[in-house]
Amino acid sequence: MAIHVSLCLFFLSVAFPYFVPILAESDTYIVYMDLSSMPKAFSSHHNWYLTTLASVSNSIETGTDFVSSSKLVYAYTNVMNGFSATLSPSELESLRNSPGYVSSVKDTSVKVDTTHSYQFLGLNSNQGAWPDSDYGKDVIIGVVDTGVWPESKSYRDDGMTEIPSRWKGECESGTQFNSSTCNKKLIGARYFNKGLLAKYPNLTIAVNSARDTDGHGTHTSSTAAGNFVEAASFFGYASGTSRGMAPNARIAMYKALWDEGVYLSDILAAIDQAIMDGVDVLSLSLGIDGLPLYADPIAIATFAAMEKGIFVSTSSGNEGPYIGTLHNGTPWVLNVAAGTVDREFGANLTLGNGISIAGLSLYPGNFSSSDAFPIAFVDCENEKELKEIGSKIVVCLDTKDKLNEQFYSVGNAKVIGGFFITNNTDLEFLTGSRFPAAFFNLDEGQKILDYIKKESDPKGRVQFEQTRLGIKSAPKVTSYSSRGPSPSCPFILKPDIMAPGAQILASWPQKSPVTDLSSGQLFNMFNIISGTSMACPHAAGVAALLKGVHPDWSPAAIRSAMMTTADVFDKTKNPIQDIGYNNKPATPLAMGAGHINPNKALDPGLVYDANVEDYINLLCALNLTSKQIQTITRSPSYNCSNPSLDLNYPSFIAYFNINDTNSNAETVHYFQRTVTNIGDGTSTYIAKLTPMDGLKVSVEPEKLVFSKKYEKKSYKLKIQGSILLPDTLIYGSLTWVQTDGKHSVGSPIVTTNLSSEVISDKND
Ligand SMILES: *[C@@H]1O[C@H](CO)[C@@H](O)[C@H](O)[C@H]1NC(C)=O
Ligand SMILES: *[C@@H]1O[C@H](CO)[C@@H](O)[C@H](O)[C@H]1NC(C)=O
Ligand SMILES: *[C@@H]1O[C@H](CO)[C@@H](O)[C@H](O)[C@H]1NC(C)=O
Ligand SMILES: *[C@@H]1O[C@H](CO)[C@@H](O)[C@H](O)[C@H]1NC(C)=O
Ligand SMILES: *[C@@H]1O[C@H](CO)[C@@H](O)[C@H](O)[C@H]1NC(C)=O
Ligand SMILES: *[C@@H]1O[C@H](CO)[C@@H](O)[C@H](O)[C@H]1NC(C)=O
Ligand SMILES: *[C@@H]1O[C@H](CO)[C@@H](O)[C@H](O)[C@H]1NC(C)=O
Ligand SMILES: *[C@@H]1O[C@H](CO)[C@@H](O)[C@H](O)[C@H]1NC(C)=O
Ligand SMILES: *[C@@H]1O[C@H](CO)[C@@H](O)[C@H](O)[C@H]1NC(C)=O
Repeated sequence: MAIHVSLCLFFLSVAFPYFVPILAESDTYIVYMDLSSMPKAFSSHHNWYLTTLASVSNSIETGTDFVSSSKLVYAYTNVMNGFSATLSPSELESLRNSPGYVSSVKDTSVKVDTTHSYQFLGLNSNQGAWPDSDYGKDVIIGVVDTGVWPESKSYRDDGMTEIPSRWKGECESGTQFNSSTCNKKLIGARYFNKGLLAKYPNLTIAVNSARDTDGHGTHTSSTAAGNFVEAASFFGYASGTSRGMAPNARIAMYKALWDEGVYLSDILAAIDQAIMDGVDVLSLSLGIDGLPLYADPIAIATFAAMEKGIFVSTSSGNEGPYIGTLHNGTPWVLNVAAGTVDREFGANLTLGNGISIAGLSLYPGNFSSSDAFPIAFVDCENEKELKEIGSKIVVCLDTKDKLNEQFYSVGNAKVIGGFFITNNTDLEFLTGSRFPAAFFNLDEGQKILDYIKKESDPKGRVQFEQTRLGIKSAPKVTSYSSRGPSPSCPFILKPDIMAPGAQILASWPQKSPVTDLSSGQLFNMFNIISGTSMACPHAAGVAALLKGVHPDWSPAAIRSAMMTTADVFDKTKNPIQDIGYNNKPATPLAMGAGHINPNKALDPGLVYDANVEDYINLLCALNLTSKQIQTITRSPSYNCSNPSLDLNYPSFIAYFNINDTNSNAETVHYFQRTVTNIGDGTSTYIAKLTPMDGLKVSVEPEKLVFSKKYEKKSYKLKIQGSILLPDTLIYGSLTWVQTDGKHSVGSPIVTTNLSSEVISDKND
């Protein structure tokens, strides 16, 4: 079982110290209990848990409240029925035989591996999601993360109305954090570290409050709902006015990720509290790899959130481009992949002959743009040659896919800088270099090589800090974005959607370094970072806008609106490309339904809704044991009389494999869906299917006629083919197009000869 939380990909300079636990044989466990077994004598579940713990305790001081309360880490109320506690193996064994015990998992130490994006998404003040939702006014976004830097201008509350009276959250004081710090924008700040302290009782937490000492939480929360901040920039790059997706929404921070360590028991306590406080949207830029649904505490906790009508946005992870790597492949949340935006950061090189050449760079240091420096072409894999070249800018040609090696060698050499000529387009994490570096494609690079060849004393001037907008081939799927299918539930296509995640500018704590140069650490009120962690809060902010306009929509309806209106074409009107697969067209396993389009999502025409019962029917069909189902539903009285893998979801995935079909012959997959008309009263929609190689795909009926708003209509999708598909992955789409052209309701269809069993075996 591989477990780790993937936050943003390049977690800058965060070192996780390794502490030696004091009680080697004891550990913290998250324990699920059946509340219906609680004897009536107990006044609260909390007391029952304490008594249960006292009864299994090995301690010599048995029976005292002291023993059980020192064992209890958290008693949970909303996210699950149960608690976390420090237990020895024999205590755990006794607990297993206690009345009401359902199951348990070990608390896991989780190893932690926007000035512009709003315009790219088409948000503007004149029309669409921003004005319609009053910029997300009064919607509350809860963010579970590393805390906030409350002084950041993104949390200013100028012009904001009073905090909604239903809000029950708090602004907890702590180290360097006064309870009066919150305002009408940052309406809550709490922190959770009992799980961390249960593991390391002697640990002194440096900043014991919701204050962000890392940066990640300040970045994600300001991306979701940061207020307008003028003159934001990252050392000259991306300068402009920064703002979150829902600039009028409220932010509540739940700090559960600590520089000192990250524990699931703390994350659960944070989600538990967020539900209690009354958040409308949860943004979770974290996840756990390799757990089945019934053992993934985040999946379990978010089920409770969904039941309460809370929309949950999660990140898919940064383990791409490999198939089946994503986490949070949970049917009741939104799973968000990371894409690029139409912006590049770069450097301009002006050669001695006057020719100016544009390359990619995000080097933040000072560099004289008026001086001409000598440049030399060298073999950058040859460290000896690099050592002897002296004080020059070196030019490297990447012919053997050795870019990383070249980059590393040049970084260690005592040269002025490095220019890399390469056909590689996956450069995002090299451009933020610690030394002056820029990257040129083969055509541009050739001009540099030609010039050097002709000159006896070649020279060039470099201008860093170039920001280029309107890049046409955007968005693209980033190479690192984790891919579906979902190992924890292969029958629901994941990820759901793609949102901006590459090189995103957002707020940053003043005291956390944004980067490390050889000359020292750099600090800035904004940082540009990348990852699905950055994509998740974009989608959470968009959900807040939708919730602002349509407060009555269920989480499934909001997700459906986002997915069925997502874009599958880029700005050049060609299929969105995937950087992880040499810029080939991206498949739904990389980007789900496509790239998020907030203004279109406001008015989707039809939605695929789903309620708690539908998710339970799915759990029943997964053949989970009753204890496993109960762990998720928190109730022994769930109803499994209608098991169905066919959740009313706005996407389709079918397995054509001997393991999934038990037949060599031609196989037919049926999907049943029901759409609700939330557009005009009377409307007619016609099914449009894209051809899928080697398969017969049809819809029955092909026409849906609605006579009033909220009317529901059902249809069947039939996919017919042999298990010998012509390709591992064949994909297409079904779009319901309104006859007057007003709405198009799109769904991706994936068929694969991968085996759902083999994909979910990644959980073992
Ligand atoms: C933790 O503190 C206790 C009491 O001060 C001490 O006995 C114990 O050795 C310490 N453990 C570690 C791992 O430092
Ligand atoms: C918190 O802020 C209030 C009002 O600004 C101030 O009166 C109080 O002394 C502060 N408390 C701490 C612990 O700094
Ligand atoms: C950088 O180079 C590009 C392409 O040659 C050119 O269009 C642009 O004006 C240059 N920018 C500056 C600041 O020189
Ligand atoms: C660049 O130089 C300016 C002026 O000397 C200085 O204030 C700034 O901190 C420097 N920036 C970096 C990134 O070193
Ligand atoms: C880039 O060049 C290398 C070697 O020259 C080649 O193996 C690779 O396929 C090329 N990549 C692309 C994206 O063209
Ligand atoms: C559940 O069990 C039934 C009966 O054995 C089987 O037909 C079905 O394929 C199983 N479903 C899954 C998802 O494994
Ligand atoms: C379970 O659901 C079925 C159909 O939805 C219904 O007929 C039955 O009464 C339900 N059983 C219980 C115990 O609620
Ligand atoms: C899936 O199909 C492709 C192309 O026909 C084939 O190369 C591959 O081996 C198949 N994979 C499995 C798991 O059957
Ligand atoms: C079927 O499942 C078994 C067990 O998980 C696996 O070893 C085998 O490779 C699968 N077959 C195919 C064709 O995927």
